[in-house]
Amino acid sequence: MTPSTPSADATISIRGVRKTYPVAGSVSARKSALTDTAESEIKSGSRDVEALRGVDMEICDPGFYAVMGRSGSGKSTLLHLLAGLDRPDSGEIIVGGSAVHSMKENELVKYRRREIGVIFQQFNLLPTLDALANTILPGVLDGRPTKELETRGREILGELGLSDRLHHRPEALSGGEQQRVAIARALFFAPPVILADEPTGNLDSTSSAALWRLLEETAAKRKMIVLMVTHEAIAASHCRQTFILKDGRVAGEFESHGLDPSQLAHRSSELARTA
Ligand SMILES: Nc1ncnc2c1ncn2[C@@H]1O[C@H](COP(=O)(O)OP(=O)(O)OP(=O)(O)O)[C@@H](O)[C@H]1O
Ligand SMILES: [Mg+2]
Repeated sequence: MTPSTPSADATISIRGVRKTYPVAGSVSARKSALTDTAESEIKSGSRDVEALRGVDMEICDPGFYAVMGRSGSGKSTLLHLLAGLDRPDSGEIIVGGSAVHSMKENELVKYRRREIGVIFQQFNLLPTLDALANTILPGVLDGRPTKELETRGREILGELGLSDRLHHRPEALSGGEQQRVAIARALFFAPPVILADEPTGNLDSTSSAALWRLLEETAAKRKMIVLMVTHEAIAASHCRQTFILKDGRVAGEFESHGLDPSQLAHRSSELARTA
């Protein structure tokens, strides 16, 4: 295993991606559930949700990137599709050269384990496992030898400043420390891309600032893409580029690194308003 450099190119290409969720009670959901029901009887249902309506996005270089947009604009849906946790209805998703949209289920399992790292707002650590065991979980699932796993786990946790927390369970770690363990787990196979959905949503302002710096450094040092969904302009000001989603489409993008957060917030809300 080569720990510190990604195995594939750090690139993301999204073209014409659409995703509609059938909602219980909607016409299409009821049609599939009750195939013999007369169509006239089910026409009164609510509408399906068009979460993504033709997303195009290209990221060709490693770095720290932000996705912003109002609640319900499709940010988490987009990250889910990129992570291979769900499939688009149409369109192409290419991550690090892999065509995620056309993978078979067994290929998706490997992709999720080795080629992509995901960090969520709620940390998603297993409560019964300590920091080291949580970090090496992807390698355990992949059947790697225990010794190699331990060495790698200690190394990453050490790099993230958690050498003295190896045997702490999540309940005995601060929020910021839990999120660093989640990052360590995401980095286990040195994927070309890490996806983070509002990673500082449960952290105080000091821990949040430390986490943005860490994600920025991680992207630069390991030459990977870190793509973060955020509602906070100050977070996006750490990112080289910010994409604005509006109603399931990319309404615009701009260089955001070092921008004054109030200026950045104004720019993103203007794009969301006018696009
Ligand atoms: N599993 C699902 N079934 C039905 N509708 C869904 C599902 N997941 C998301 N949606 C709908 O799709 C739309 C986009 O949701 P999404 O979670 O991507 O928004 P978001 O931009 O992440 O919002 P937030 O900022 O509040 O997290 C919303 O209208 C949401 O209600
Ligand atoms: Mg969301």
